[in-house]
Amino acid sequence: MDCTKFGLRGKLMGRVQGKIAMVTGAASDPGLGHTAAMTLAAEGARLVVTDVDADGAERCAQRIRDAGGEAISFHQDVTSESAWKEAIAATVGTYGRLDILVNNAGIAVLKPLADLTLADWNRQIEVNLTSVFLGCKYAAAEMRRAGGGSIINLSSVAGLVGLPGCTAYGASKGGVRLMSKSIAVELGRDRIRCNSVHPGVIWTNMQSGAGNGSREASEAMTAFLPLGRMGEPADIANCILYLSSDESAYVTGAEFTIDGGMTAT
Ligand SMILES: NC(=O)c1ccc[n+]([C@@H]2O[C@H](COP(=O)([O-])OP(=O)(O)OC[C@H]3O[C@@H](n4cnc5c(N)ncnc54)[C@H](O)[C@@H]3O)[C@@H](O)[C@H]2O)c1
Repeated sequence: MDCTKFGLRGKLMGRVQGKIAMVTGAASDPGLGHTAAMTLAAEGARLVVTDVDADGAERCAQRIRDAGGEAISFHQDVTSESAWKEAIAATVGTYGRLDILVNNAGIAVLKPLADLTLADWNRQIEVNLTSVFLGCKYAAAEMRRAGGGSIINLSSVAGLVGLPGCTAYGASKGGVRLMSKSIAVELGRDRIRCNSVHPGVIWTNMQSGAGNGSREASEAMTAFLPLGRMGEPADIANCILYLSSDESAYVTGAEFTIDGGMTAT
């Protein structure tokens, strides 16, 4: 934005201007990672977007570049320790440091307890919880070297309250919630902040797969909420933007519930 007509010199700075941000699970569109990456880029961040879907991650990076932003993509399975080391090294190799990590990649294994197999359980925990541990560990090492940073971990309302079919998913997201607080407490003196975000029902490819695929069905399910509607990916991206920016400099170990009031009742 040209601010000269308002008596300001030069251009207005974006809310995360010049920061280096990595977002995992950024391929899915509509998805929370994809929208968060676009939002951070629009506010001046330089992005590394990763996903197990390499083509989708590259589409996200290209979309950012087409809009005038800076982004690279990286093929990453978040359950792999070596892939985490490579993704962080690629980030630092390209941009020199890492300021923001959004641990967004995830899957939802939603089954009644009786049908949940040990393989289901192990897969849910490795994709949603072990991945976040690995991301925090390797990102924090770089952030410490750079003098600080912000880690934002995607949990869920299922990490706050019990829901049917959520034995494994809720365990993974509850784990993300308390892991985030422990990391916040341990790394505060390194000026590394760590917070968790707890979306309710948000319209994405995951939500479409969890319901019967119809937006109408998800809208009907959310009509009873205090805010009377389903959430949009931008509702979550705006919170991620706040936690990424220096506006949240005094916020760590906190949980941000964005659910239209679902868990307030
Ligand atoms: N949409 C919702 O209503 C909702 C609610 C609460 C929490 N969440 C959480 O938000 C996050 C994003 O959800 P979404 O709705 O955008 O989902 P989505 O399915 O639309 O996108 C998830 C992305 O993660 C990627 N991914 C999956 N497994 C991976 C792996 N092993 N390595 C790397 N990437 C992998 C997928 O390829 C996909 O691009 C998830 O952690 C999810 O649990 C979503």
